[in-house]
Amino acid sequence: MIALGCDHGGYNLICAIKKYLDEKGIEYREYGTFSTESVDYPIYAYKVAKAVSKGECKTGILCCGTGIGIAIAANKVKGIRAAVVNNEFGAEMTRRHNHANILCMGGRVTNAEDAVKYADIFLNTPEEGGRHEKRLAMIAEIENGTFKV
Ligand code: RB5
Repeated sequence: MIALGCDHGGYNLICAIKKYLDEKGIEYREYGTFSTESVDYPIYAYKVAKAVSKGECKTGILCCGTGIGIAIAANKVKGIRAAVVNNEFGAEMTRRHNHANILCMGGRVTNAEDAVKYADIFLNTPEEGGRHEKRLAMIAEIENGTFKV
């Protein structure tokens, strides 16, 4: 199950992503917004991030104008690794190395065709584990306030 969310700036990209998921028969849950009327992106970032952090959804896709604000907000939720992606290499590497669990993209940065391409790569790339686990554990320690250097 994939959690989908956006603000008005990312609405068109989320529509394209939904079409792609429908065609592939991949299940998703929508957390809004549902139009191009201006809204506040932290609301949708929070809803999707909570769904992923609670394990209700395995991964999420969030879109706003740049992908940045919605990623910053999502990353405030414990256990979330939300990555802003605007190229194919980033879509792959953030899964392999960062074990990103939310893909963030910007409707004013990326066109719908590329957004679907990045989503496809993101959803089909495995976490690499290995040496990256240690680094991810460090990030978790930063989050928990237990990190020592
Ligand atoms: C909304 O105008 C815009 O600020 C938002 O979509 C996003 O780009 C924030 O990072």
